[in-house]
Amino acid sequence: MSELPYTSHYPNSLPIWDKLKDHQTKLKQIHLRDEFAKDPDRAKRFFKQAAGIYLDYSKNLITDETIELLSELANEAGLPEAITAMFNGEKINNSEERPALHVALRNQSSTAFEVDGENVMPEVKAALNQMERFVWSIHSAQWRGYTNKRFTDVVHLGIGGSYLGPKVVSAALKPYWKAGINLHYVANIDGTHITEELKHLSPETTLFIIASKSFGTQETIMNAKSAKAWFLRNGGEEEDVHKHFVAITANTQKAYNFGIREENIFPMWDWVGGRYSLWSTIGLPIALTIGIENFKNLLAGAHEMDEHFRTAPITENIPAILGLLGVWYSNFFNADSHAILPYDHYLRALPAHIQQLDMESNGKTVTHKGEPVEWSTGPIIWGGAGANGQHAYHQLLHQGTHFLPADFIMPLRTHNHIGDHHALLLSNCLSQSQALMQGKTLDEAKAELKAQGRTDEQIEELAPHKVIPGNRPSNTMLFEKATPKTIGALIAMYEHKVFVQGVIWSINSFDQWGVELGKELGEHIYEIITGAKETNGQDSSTKNLIDLFKQINNR
Ligand code: F6P
Repeated sequence: MSELPYTSHYPNSLPIWDKLKDHQTKLKQIHLRDEFAKDPDRAKRFFKQAAGIYLDYSKNLITDETIELLSELANEAGLPEAITAMFNGEKINNSEERPALHVALRNQSSTAFEVDGENVMPEVKAALNQMERFVWSIHSAQWRGYTNKRFTDVVHLGIGGSYLGPKVVSAALKPYWKAGINLHYVANIDGTHITEELKHLSPETTLFIIASKSFGTQETIMNAKSAKAWFLRNGGEEEDVHKHFVAITANTQKAYNFGIREENIFPMWDWVGGRYSLWSTIGLPIALTIGIENFKNLLAGAHEMDEHFRTAPITENIPAILGLLGVWYSNFFNADSHAILPYDHYLRALPAHIQQLDMESNGKTVTHKGEPVEWSTGPIIWGGAGANGQHAYHQLLHQGTHFLPADFIMPLRTHNHIGDHHALLLSNCLSQSQALMQGKTLDEAKAELKAQGRTDEQIEELAPHKVIPGNRPSNTMLFEKATPKTIGALIAMYEHKVFVQGVIWSINSFDQWGVELGKELGEHIYEIITGAKETNGQDSSTKNLIDLFKQINNR
């Protein structure tokens, strides 16, 4: 395993760690409501703007000293060196001996990005050109189906990083969709997913994209085989397959064996992790729906955030600040989750992408060197669309016993002006973070009940139920409008936040060995179910459950 080009520290042994602990003990005493009251400039001081993103982080449990200490933590942990190493294409994914060079995919400058001494930019640009030609040929109907009809539907088959990023981004940019093409995603191995999606489609006018970096992921390959069988069952011939199936993969041979022509195989590289791949050819369905120019704008927005992350000093650096705040809460306040709350219908699926990005990256228990960590690492990421969540789980945010930092995300302008919807949406978004921050005291609750004409006895009884502790931290991220550029910047911001945290925690954010065991055991169980193997060696619970399945299905 290669040595890291930055420190392989134990964060809890860094000199700054104990200082942060002491600082937290002091800070536990403060209430954000008082901090705002005594400092009218607080919002201005804890506000940053870059790449079209406005970040208000003033509603966090911080003072100026906290930021100084956290930035010292970043320096002691080697964050500046780590950022340089990432942009230099060093093998920072050291357990897989690979760089993590997704920044090269959105590079708009003339800078070369090297992997093993070779500039990858010509390949990256060639792949983008291949995407451009493909998008043009579909939209102009130069490329048609086997009965010479133009395509009306594209079905993207992929899972994990080969699915969520494109799905979330294409949904986020719905106002930019070009007319004429309907996009469908199929990820789950549950046959219901593909059955439902294909139900109303015609093989004559449907194009399939098989997106799998490995071309070996069980779910995707099973879905690809079922799609091909559906195509052949409904009029298509074997020699027509190449007109209706394209692939995105690093495993060209396997795609070729499936029946896809070499010129219709879009390249992937092992230096791009699945959850960081929407910027690559995996973004093909995004480009198909929003057009190549808008796809390039998406890349441009991400590149702007990359440049900010690469060059801004830590205390001015939005992803660094967000990452350090996350560490502050995970390791010093024992927060075990973080909520992503987009106030934008188009962004309603964003929490799922950030969940994958963060939890697959930082859900780790060993350091870079393979030693057990003695500090908590990646939090549980969850969330959902505002304002809907306010009528569901926000009760727990306001009065529950858990400490739950949250991100409120919202565009300032909407794509859909009707009545005063947008002003009301913003009011909801801002009131939630305000309520979390200031809370409601017992005296305020009592005064409120008194004003409602309640008796003294009722006031005593009811007031404690109305108290809201407040002092609960949140970030507010605003941007002018959900455009390809701002969405690119927003997602890149989260990618870098995740990296910052991985650096502080001394873990590799770019591997995902944890998902392998389930895959291996799943193959084994499948062999038992199909009768290829005996149930011997299975634990009694799994064996009983397999037997039950076989019995009900007469197998
Ligand atoms: O199971 C996890 C994972 O390896 C992800 O990291 C990846 O994005 C996904 O599976 C799909 O992999 P592939 O693109 O090779 O099909």
